[in-house]
Amino acid sequence: MPVYCITGVNRGLGLEFIRQIAQDSSNTILATTRANADTSDLKKVVSSNTHILECDVSDKSSVSSSASEAFKHLNGGKIDFLLANAAVNSVPQQTCLDLHADDLHRELDINVIGPANLTSILLEQGLLAENVRIMNMTPGLGSMTRSLGISPRKCAPYSISKAGVNMLTVHQSGVLKEKLGGEYQRDAEGCERLEGKRQWEVLPVRWGGGRMVDLVDPRLCIAEAYRLTIIRIGVQ
Ligand SMILES: NC(=O)c1ccc[n+]([C@@H]2O[C@H](COP(=O)([O-])OP(=O)(O)OC[C@H]3O[C@@H](n4cnc5c(N)ncnc54)[C@H](OP(=O)(O)O)[C@@H]3O)[C@@H](O)[C@H]2O)c1
Repeated sequence: MPVYCITGVNRGLGLEFIRQIAQDSSNTILATTRANADTSDLKKVVSSNTHILECDVSDKSSVSSSASEAFKHLNGGKIDFLLANAAVNSVPQQTCLDLHADDLHRELDINVIGPANLTSILLEQGLLAENVRIMNMTPGLGSMTRSLGISPRKCAPYSISKAGVNMLTVHQSGVLKEKLGGEYQRDAEGCERLEGKRQWEVLPVRWGGGRMVDLVDPRLCIAEAYRLTIIRIGVQ
């Protein structure tokens, strides 16, 4: 049965992904949180097949340790769905005119270098299934075209970092295609199907067991579907 790995799941969208995916107890879930995170809400929604691991995505050694922990839990299994969800938007009021280097560095460390290291370390440790689907969460604020229509412009460090996540995703899709040997193609139909939908909107369940789970649509390859950038590698 499928194995999901999701970062930053003690609250927000990550918690909701876990809640939905855990409804099917045959799903194996690697649910990661920071060391001192309050996991009380998470513990209310997990299944018996959920493993809560510590992982600070901005710290490479923490990502490596959590990958080693994951290896122990998987008993030879591999990750089918990797959702790089953890992120920060710590200075939403900041604009490009008062950009602070420290703030931008922090957002880049967590939001861009975090998912980059996560994927490369899991790949290095042989934990990604050949047809893994890797999803890097990005908002409209990370989209160049959508941002043109947003006024006033704010959340500059977050937006810049999330635009970086989009490009990271493009690069990962090409490099991982070579590494994992799967096929990769763009599927415009899939992109259109999700376009304009609200985040929590019910979509027909095609795989897995829940609504947000359905965003992991086999027909999607790489799409900036509503607030999600999705990579699909491999053939269904
Ligand atoms: N909310 C939206 O409307 C929206 C829209 C589009 C895309 N997104 C994207 O969806 C994702 C989740 O958003 P959200 O609104 O659910 O965010 P959120 O409520 O702020 O939750 C963020 C999660 O990331 C974790 N996190 C932060 N820094 C971390 C680090 N260094 N290492 C590991 N975990 C870390 C947080 O843990 P702590 O509790 O320890 O801080 C928390 O669990 C983000 O990637 C965001 O860009 C959100």
